[in-house]
Amino acid sequence: MADEFRPLKDAFGKFATGIAIATCVDASGGFRALTVNSFTSVSLNPALVLWCLELKAAAYPHFMEADNYAVSMLNADATALSNRFASREPAPLTPDEYEVWETGAPVLKSRIAGFDCRIHRRHKAGDHVILIGEVVRFDIVDGAPLVYFASNYHSGIKAP
Ligand SMILES: Cc1cc2nc3c(=O)[nH]c(=O)nc-3n(C[C@H](O)[C@H](O)[C@H](O)COP(=O)(O)O)c2cc1C
Repeated sequence: MADEFRPLKDAFGKFATGIAIATCVDASGGFRALTVNSFTSVSLNPALVLWCLELKAAAYPHFMEADNYAVSMLNADATALSNRFASREPAPLTPDEYEVWETGAPVLKSRIAGFDCRIHRRHKAGDHVILIGEVVRFDIVDGAPLVYFASNYHSGIKAP
């Protein structure tokens, strides 16, 4: 079946982005994670970030119930993680793959930067909800970024 949104997706996809994994803890204490490229920095003081979650995503109810989330910007070696958490039923995170900071949401080790956030506001917008988070802890890890452009991964950018 033809995807009626393909032309718009292709136009949006001309904006090169990083790839991040957004995570939260669900009501039964399990981790939920999904691949996102909608991450944006919002404010320095207070430190705010956002990303957009599709209403139809399996993870949607969990991020709507959670008080916190973490975002891990992936490094160039993490294509498999990106594909895994873009699938409907990803294999769960194993303890060697993450750290837990202040909020309890897992921060992935395959990152170039991590952000542990308390949810500040949620705004429904069309078929997504914008999840604004206040950063309570962050770090930077050496490494090159995983880049997404025109529906493909790119890893040609050198670490500074
Ligand atoms: C490169 C890439 C970027 C994505 N960015 C987002 C995003 O910003 N927000 C979102 O809700 N889903 C995004 N997705 C889709 C979700 O990762 C995917 O829908 C989810 O992990 C699981 O699939 P489900 O919708 O079947 O539950 C992206 C997928 C890929 C491959």
